[in-house]
Amino acid sequence: MRHPKPLAEIVSTGRYVPSNVVTNDDLAARMDTSDEWIRTRTGIRARRIAPDQEGAAHMGAAAARIALERARVDPGEVDILVLSTATPDRWLPSTACDVQALLGCTNAVAFDIMAACSGFIYGLSMAEGYLAAGRGEVALVVSTEKMSSIVDWNDRSTCVLFGDGAGAAVVKPSNGSGRGILSSHLRSDGNLAQLLWRPAGGALTPLTADVLAKGDHFVRMAGREVFKNAVRSMAEASHAALHDAGLTAADVDLLVPHQANLRIIDATAKYAGIPPEKVFINLDRYGNMSSASIPVALDEAREQGLIGQGANVLTAAFGAGLTWGAMAWRF
Ligand code: UT7
Repeated sequence: MRHPKPLAEIVSTGRYVPSNVVTNDDLAARMDTSDEWIRTRTGIRARRIAPDQEGAAHMGAAAARIALERARVDPGEVDILVLSTATPDRWLPSTACDVQALLGCTNAVAFDIMAACSGFIYGLSMAEGYLAAGRGEVALVVSTEKMSSIVDWNDRSTCVLFGDGAGAAVVKPSNGSGRGILSSHLRSDGNLAQLLWRPAGGALTPLTADVLAKGDHFVRMAGREVFKNAVRSMAEASHAALHDAGLTAADVDLLVPHQANLRIIDATAKYAGIPPEKVFINLDRYGNMSSASIPVALDEAREQGLIGQGANVLTAAFGAGLTWGAMAWRF
């Protein structure tokens, strides 16, 4: 959606990844796979795996603390805490409420959204709308994923792809300087839910011994179908977001895409007309951290000085739902 001027801006970011690095060779020692297969098919070389005692809330709070400190915002000043996760620590209450408690964001309305890998841009869009409606001055968007807890470690076609981590952003109303969210183009299609899902374990098919034995509570993915949809959807969304922002590909200083597969990223950049040197990639080190991938990448890109003042940044995401979208930001 096009805005005549930005309504909200990202004022700071933060990230947290567990310290435990698991390489492709580590996985190859445990299952029938190889570094060569994983690297050439996906671009992934390693991922972080959280220990048992470290959940989604712990990681999300760690990332959020950094973002809050950088923005010089006290936890009590946060008006809205939107948290995206596909891996809540438990089903009730929300992980957002756990993060709220860990941080001391006592004045915030806190809730989870579930939009899989697109969760960060969905969350940002909700924060933007909340702030634009005048309902608050400070939003905290947190994306945190313990993917290692929901993948089937006996399914080599999915478990090698994912990793754990968290990213966060503090968002405030734009101050008229032209910085902020220039456009957002978000979409979903529930008809394609079964391409990437956890078939059982919820209200319709509760956990039973049979479900557990079959592993139907784990992530299942039709990899090739998801791949094709991802390329098409991210390319279309990127075009739409650029168009709505009044930008061309040449105006983009950096593309910070969702990090699922290097081949998907390359195709998205190619269709969008963005050269490889302007594409930020960290999936080689982290794998696919679902909704945490984009904020972690954004935080690393800022830390590396790749996003200067006035930089135009494009992001695009794709995931279960299906959900997808793109956003253009000016920093
Ligand atoms: O965040 C958004 C959600 N996820 C994605 O965007 C992922 C989208 N999909 C993909 O990235 C790719 O489809 C994959 C990387 C998952 C798979 O790549 P592919 O080129 O589509 O391979 P495939 O699934 O068609 O499998 C090719 C072969 C199969 O063997 P056969 O039947 O050809 O003998 C698989 O059994 O590769 C085999 N295979 C593996 N071999 C070694 C599958 N996983 C592995 C593995 N190690 N880990």
